Amino acid sequence: MNKNEILNLLESNTPDVLIQADKIRKQYVGDEIHLRGLIEFSNICARTCQYCGLRYENKNIIRYRLSADEIIQLAQIGKKSGLQTIVLQSGEDNYFSTDKLCHIIQEIKKLDVALTLSIGEKSYQEYKAYKEAGADRYLLRIETTDKNLYKKLHPNMSFENRMECLYNLKDLGYETGTGCLVGLPGQTLDSLAEDILFFKKLDADMIGIGPFIPHPDTPLGGANVDLTANLDLSIRVMAVTRILLKDINIPATTAMETINPNGRILALNSGANVVMPNITDDIHKKEYEIYPDKNNENLDSLISKIKSIGRFVAFTKGFRKKI
Ligand code: 5AD
Repeated sequence: MNKNEILNLLESNTPDVLIQADKIRKQYVGDEIHLRGLIEFSNICARTCQYCGLRYENKNIIRYRLSADEIIQLAQIGKKSGLQTIVLQSGEDNYFSTDKLCHIIQEIKKLDVALTLSIGEKSYQEYKAYKEAGADRYLLRIETTDKNLYKKLHPNMSFENRMECLYNLKDLGYETGTGCLVGLPGQTLDSLAEDILFFKKLDADMIGIGPFIPHPDTPLGGANVDLTANLDLSIRVMAVTRILLKDINIPATTAMETINPNGRILALNSGANVVMPNITDDIHKKEYEIYPDKNNENLDSLISKIKSIGRFVAFTKGFRKKI
């Protein structure tokens, strides 16, 4: 698909592209859903991303950092409830040195689970150390491939460095996940088409796409956005991504479910094959407020939703099976 063809699909307002994505999903990755247990282990962040509630300059937030033992315990609980992938996510919290992280990774890997990290931009050497300690996958959204927009949204950050991080992760043999926000002020359909082409160029193994939801305690808090339109467009971007990257893993994201209680089902019926239940303890998951009213559906309710649409939970670690 070239850019114009992608643009045509993004502009169309018929369900055809969603139906086609669902067919390709079924053909290439089947009816099984992979669950990834998410642990939000620190909401302390050195960055100032204009859209994110965890940004350093937000003083209206209770900050927390779990101890290594608490993180490992949450992973154990996740494993006991049947989860075969643990995702460790945090703000860019410099307290967690390479040694501290490697210890946590090694302990969690003893549980015989796949381990995903989502802890931001690090050096090649740091990524290498985590990999050697046992990490399998890494999530780092590019957020947007529109360089000018990227610069505006990410003060004191470098688009080039983020790209380099993604190629370093690939080079080190991680299953690499990226993705974008949809509906950011100033974002165009053209740039979303470029985002999708970038996912293909990187040969990403996982793609997470989420609608932008304004957080009141951020510079974009007052942005005039149509949440329903953001949700629809993010599902469309996700569907086109499935059509282009047929065999990858694509989550129905929490931001989709936050906008519409049926968001996850819509996504699972339009190309998604992964769900990420949040297994952080109840107090801290509320404080991990990237955007307001983050959906926190529990595991049992998620599983019954999955079954209600004729799909089932896989009992494997759910690595990408490249076709
Ligand atoms: N709305 C939606 N998603 C957001 N993220 C950060 N802030 C917001 C927001 N206001 C997403 C980013 C990040 C992921 C962890 O959360 O894409 O990569």
